[in-house]
Amino acid sequence: MDSLEKHTDYGSVALDEGDLAANPLDQFAVWLDDAERAGIYEPNAMVVGTVDSESRPSSRTVLLKGLDSVGFEFVTNYRSLKGMQLAENPGVSLLFPWYPLNRQVIVLGTARFATAESSDAYFASRPRESQLASMASEQSQPVGSRAMVEQRVAELTKEFEGVATVPRPSWWGGVRVVPRSIEFWQGRTSRLHDRLRYTATAEGTWTIERLQP
Ligand SMILES: Cc1cc2nc3c(=O)[nH]c(=O)nc-3n(C[C@H](O)[C@H](O)[C@H](O)COP(=O)(O)O)c2cc1C
Repeated sequence: MDSLEKHTDYGSVALDEGDLAANPLDQFAVWLDDAERAGIYEPNAMVVGTVDSESRPSSRTVLLKGLDSVGFEFVTNYRSLKGMQLAENPGVSLLFPWYPLNRQVIVLGTARFATAESSDAYFASRPRESQLASMASEQSQPVGSRAMVEQRVAELTKEFEGVATVPRPSWWGGVRVVPRSIEFWQGRTSRLHDRLRYTATAEGTWTIERLQP
């Protein structure tokens, strides 16, 4: 339990207003690239926070699979806990924890389910085993044993033997997150961290504010 007593110095790398791109998605791409170059394990892993209609929150790790000028995208089972919560309440947070770089990025925004066409395209690009696993798993539902899940995969593997294309299950696909704000956090010495937050304006531009550490 030594970690509970440890005081790590988060270093002297600075994040200044002048360092930032005008668009936070461009800035995010730069930091994701830095995370990749730094050799961070699963640099596209993020913690997705969702809330149901009764204000009960939940979070889990998911991989970022798409990034463009509009926002972020991940893929999942729409009948999972996160899928059900997003159907009730599209409010979502994404957190990228890049600890080896003393960095984190926090995205607050709104989720919408991707179009069938784009989910089909992504599903088609997955290895067949992953496609069958997505089809077999009623993600987040209790199951009696691992053997029952494996049995379901075996049944589907047999069912689709000789079938060239495994169809995407209708309950599996992309979730696009359109950001309302994106905060870039750079750890600094003595807990005087740099925090710069972009917020979307009604005109479609972005303002940048510094937040207290
Ligand atoms: C590194 C990592 C990557 C993951 N990537 C995904 C993913 O891309 N999509 C997904 O649905 N679950 C992913 N998971 C599993 C989720 O964390 C979670 O267990 C699952 O989505 C069910 O979550 P829910 O019950 O809150 O909906 C990943 C887990 C880890 C640790």
